[in-house]
Amino acid sequence: MKVLRTVAELRQWSREERKGGNTVGLVPTMGALHAGHASLIRAAKAECGKVAVSVFVNPTQFGPNEDYAVYPRTFDVDCALAEAHGADVVFAPTVEELYPAGATTFVEVEGLSSRLDGASRPGHFRGVATVVSKLLIAAEPDRAFFGQKDAAQVAVLRRMVTDLRFAAEIVVCPIVRESDGLALSSRNRYLSPAERTQALALSRIIHQTEALFAAGERSTGALIEAARVAFSAAPEIRVDYIELVDWATLEPGPTAAPGNLFAVAAWVGATRLIDNTILG
Ligand code: PAF
Repeated sequence: MKVLRTVAELRQWSREERKGGNTVGLVPTMGALHAGHASLIRAAKAECGKVAVSVFVNPTQFGPNEDYAVYPRTFDVDCALAEAHGADVVFAPTVEELYPAGATTFVEVEGLSSRLDGASRPGHFRGVATVVSKLLIAAEPDRAFFGQKDAAQVAVLRRMVTDLRFAAEIVVCPIVRESDGLALSSRNRYLSPAERTQALALSRIIHQTEALFAAGERSTGALIEAARVAFSAAPEIRVDYIELVDWATLEPGPTAAPGNLFAVAAWVGATRLIDNTILG
């Protein structure tokens, strides 16, 4: 498996593969790969002739007091995992390669970018949209693979790909969970053993909401209130948001419908975790 460092190398690789008759899949990541990323790489390999995995901790999607400096960087292990699951190349640019000195160009998906995580992390989705645009422009993939765990990110990127007429199709893969329900996240490694147990409240509340919806509850207010009550039984957790929204617009409505996104974000100690389900 090759490691490519520049946009020019990635573009040349992709164009040669496509000229040779292959489709190209792109799996954008920030590294610290886990079984959730592995599932994206396997999905990409199943659907595309060749697969590129990008490993880039994107500075513009972190706020000033967030974990950019300490975000786990495990490049050699990431390369081994990517290769084991079928990646053909890893694209690992420097910050200067993706953000040339003096860079002032950003991609802003208005409206959606200030909902859910965008409300609590101002500028986050602007950074995501910008770096994913750069990756799509560089790799020219047929398909780009993202996890449902970042469901609001998916909504922002779907809008962006439609608005900017990117040729790539966005493919969304299911959340991968530990056997006890915890959604996999690169940030889970920040949790102490006690916090790891506390964090299970998120997936419990996701399952509770799925069960209430399956039992016929359709009031957005009632579903959110039930989640709030359940969180209050875990006082060590600080809720950031509980939202039930249309997955495309990220706007709430009075009634829950199949296909709606129910999403939570909460602080467990110093670690902010997210989880969600698509109802029905
Ligand atoms: O989901 C992520 O890991 C990141 O937000 C992404 C899409 C790789 C952009 O940096």
